Amino acid sequence: MMEYAASDTRYQGMKYARCGKSGLMLPRVSLGLWHNFGNLTLLDEQANLLKAAFDLGITYFDIADNYGPPYGEAERNFGRILSKDFKPYRDELIISTKAGYDMWPGPYGNYGSRKHLIAGIDASLKRMGLEYVDIFYHHRPDDETPLEETCEALSSIVNQGKALYIGLSNYKPEGTIHASNILRDNHTPCVIHQPSYSMLNRWIEDGLDKVLLDKGIGSAVFKPLEQGLLTGKYNDGIPSDSRMKKDPRFLKQEALNEQLFSKISALSRLAAQRGQTLAQMAIAWVLQNPCVTTALIGASRPSQIVENVRALENLDFAQDELRHIEGIVASRESE
Ligand SMILES: NC(=O)c1ccc[n+]([C@@H]2O[C@H](COP(=O)([O-])OP(=O)(O)OC[C@H]3O[C@@H](n4cnc5c(N)ncnc54)[C@H](OP(=O)(O)O)[C@@H]3O)[C@@H](O)[C@H]2O)c1
Repeated sequence: MMEYAASDTRYQGMKYARCGKSGLMLPRVSLGLWHNFGNLTLLDEQANLLKAAFDLGITYFDIADNYGPPYGEAERNFGRILSKDFKPYRDELIISTKAGYDMWPGPYGNYGSRKHLIAGIDASLKRMGLEYVDIFYHHRPDDETPLEETCEALSSIVNQGKALYIGLSNYKPEGTIHASNILRDNHTPCVIHQPSYSMLNRWIEDGLDKVLLDKGIGSAVFKPLEQGLLTGKYNDGIPSDSRMKKDPRFLKQEALNEQLFSKISALSRLAAQRGQTLAQMAIAWVLQNPCVTTALIGASRPSQIVENVRALENLDFAQDELRHIEGIVASRESE
């Protein structure tokens, strides 16, 4: 088997943006390992996804402790591929993991206690065979644990050299302000937030976006394609090789309805006028929000990554295009 050598042109096409007011630069498109990196996908196929991404200048790979299936498997597989193919490139990569959702049985395998987070990062590093991750996220807020305890644990993880940067995921505006103040006082600032965001999911526009800009926190927005819905791939039925068919844990057939299809058709027509596929327009659209640093996509095959990165060829939206999109996606409110 040939040894992997990354493409010499990998930094030519990608655009990079500063993550908030930190020193960290991130590619405008990043790859997440939530799906397609567990035991349902061959290791070679997984490696091909990572290589295709890196060859296009995607330097940021996002994981969590419980990505699989089974839990932990995406980290183990990523570690295997890293040690085989990416060893020379560790300093060119931003690798993140997370803890805070259910991971192991009992009272310490979940949420935001110091016990959970410290045990969580140690186990993640072991599974990936890494000495440190670049970003460690608290995966979701935990109202039952004092935020001071959670943030102290995150700061300790940085101070122990197990992570370079701290991130928060799924935190609402108030919790983000509070946590980022504590982390700043600990001298381990929160540099990145990871919320969901897409043309069809606009919750961050209710205040989180302003908080991120005010605090100088960047963002990696997840599910910009709504797990594939915003590509039009389900308009004529459920393809046999799609997520909804192969691994529908989080994308169920109930998501499909006529109202969604008519929005997707209208958005596809606009994308075509812009010379883009719907997937490309969906990615470009999240990136035009000034609080967004990177669009965190998933992919089941390298060609999707190639297509999606080409979104960067047209990131500009005319005002009337933005208004048109607003009209299409808001049409639910009139029903
Ligand atoms: N922090 C959190 O709580 C949280 C939660 C969820 C996700 N995330 C992160 O966000 C990442 C992305 O989530 P996601 O995978 O749901 O994102 P997504 O980009 O909305 O959906 C990706 C899926 O859409 C399909 N797809 C992608 N490009 C396509 C194209 N050009 N044409 C046709 N189909 C295409 C593929 O599925 P198929 O080909 O298999 O149909 C792919 O796996 C995750 O890996 C994870 O890192 C974080």
